[in-house]
Amino acid sequence: MIDIQHLAKTYATPRGRFEALRDISLHIEQGEVFGIIGPSGAGKSTLVQCINLLERPDSGTISIGGTELTGLGETELRQQRRRIGMVFQGFNLLARRTVYGNVALPLEIAGVPSSQIPAKVERLLKLVGLEHLRDRYPSQISGGQKQRVGIARALANDPDVLLSDEATSALDPETTHNILALLRDINKKTGVTVVMITHQMEVVREICDRVAVLSHGQVVESGRTQDIFASPKHDVTRAMVSAATASDLTDTTLAAAHARLAELEAARPGTVARLWRIRLAGANSGTLLSNLTREHALDISLVQARVEDIQGVAVGTLFVLAQGAPLAVEQALKALAALDISVEDIAP
Ligand SMILES: Nc1ncnc2c1ncn2[C@@H]1O[C@H](COP(=O)(O)OP(=O)(O)OP(=O)(O)O)[C@@H](O)[C@H]1O
Ligand SMILES: [Mg+2]
Repeated sequence: MIDIQHLAKTYATPRGRFEALRDISLHIEQGEVFGIIGPSGAGKSTLVQCINLLERPDSGTISIGGTELTGLGETELRQQRRRIGMVFQGFNLLARRTVYGNVALPLEIAGVPSSQIPAKVERLLKLVGLEHLRDRYPSQISGGQKQRVGIARALANDPDVLLSDEATSALDPETTHNILALLRDINKKTGVTVVMITHQMEVVREICDRVAVLSHGQVVESGRTQDIFASPKHDVTRAMVSAATASDLTDTTLAAAHARLAELEAARPGTVARLWRIRLAGANSGTLLSNLTREHALDISLVQARVEDIQGVAVGTLFVLAQGAPLAVEQALKALAALDISVEDIAP
């Protein structure tokens, strides 16, 4: 559906050229909800601007539904842009138009005959659950309701793609949840491909089928949401997953676990003790722990375990103390890595 190949974008700054995007290649399937996540300054908004060609990339190509946008002139581009609906963090509604008027605007601009507009707007307002507020002005509705207007407006010209740049960042958690549920529902009902730009892993976790992680203008990791949560590889991803899953130990538990490491080693000279964070998806954690004990002759004690539902898959985070001969510990780590189970050593 959306195919991005070797995209690069630099900005001119007083200190020379700044590389905002470097060699980005992504393929987004028709009908999926795809997340693009990264910390502030990673290049997310730049990427969105490039996808709809509001910014011209320096090199690389962008195709949507087989049409290469990067090869088009301004007139054709304007036509093609109708295939992309945009939802923004700041809503960008016209204050002097009602809810109805805001949703009708893109239809008027596209030259839809005025006799067809009312039915279309009513249908869109119904889709986002705002029929009852049709005559209110933006100042008279809540943030969540404004974003529903923004979504209805973005869908007005039946786009193939809905591009959302931090659509829920200004909303409280409950409203965020409601808006994400709405986007998921619209995606299911209409089959529109949704691209969610966000800095919140919670957003990815709630609705994205797949996700790409952006850091310093590059894609550092991408894959299915449950795999990224179960086994984040890059430091940036790990930090974001930890923040979203609340899987970290409290300071007290961490200090106690580290103190225990020293005690364990003192009690059995010649062995090493480690504190590990193990992430796993869909696997049986019971078997994992007994395997470490039986096959690798490690002593394992559980410090903390949590299982969360990520896109319908149980993803677990375990903190364990592992003790054994140095070689056995090393081999156990290798065996876990071969099973693609993520293990992080949390050294004191
Ligand atoms: N017009 C511009 N000129 C120069 N540098 C720019 C310009 N626009 C963005 N940048 C720089 O490019 C980098 C990426 O910016 P971008 O807005 O894409 O980040 P972002 O991932 O969307 O961040 P945020 O989460 O804060 O919205 C930043 O370092 C920013 O300072
Ligand atoms: Mg941004």
